Amino acid sequence: MADAPRILVLHGPNLNMLGTREPAVYGTTTLEAINADLAELAKQRGAELEFFQSNHEGSLVDRIQEAPTWADAILINPGGLTHTSVTLRDALAGTALPVVEVHLSNVFAREAFRQHSYVSPIAVGVIAGFGPASYRLGLEALLERLEE
Ligand code: DQA
Repeated sequence: MADAPRILVLHGPNLNMLGTREPAVYGTTTLEAINADLAELAKQRGAELEFFQSNHEGSLVDRIQEAPTWADAILINPGGLTHTSVTLRDALAGTALPVVEVHLSNVFAREAFRQHSYVSPIAVGVIAGFGPASYRLGLEALLERLEE
């Protein structure tokens, strides 16, 4: 890829509450800190990022539909929509962009309803269970994929 790779980073519902939300499950790192960490990594790797968080499914779908005008790929933590939203999955698939799904917690070690994802089948891959590092690892994986 000749130009700097451009990644849209999406955070689903309730992720704006990181830092205070169920710290035993999600840790105490804020979303702002996660985004700052990703921005630093992107700078080192010569990539460009845009960030968007919403508690509203439709707002996420609107943002995803716009993604191909700018982004080369999408890094997403869909939050609870992971387990419920055909709509979100369809929007992601509709972009035809490579998608990496990330989760702070190991969703496979939690309640049964978290062990199914509508997004995973259309994702390049999934990283879960490493806290904020899941995002970093996801970004690294996406950048490697874009270099192939
Ligand atoms: C989450 C896991 C989801 O099951 C949950 O609904 C979230 C956060 C995670 O990052 O571990 O909101 O996506």
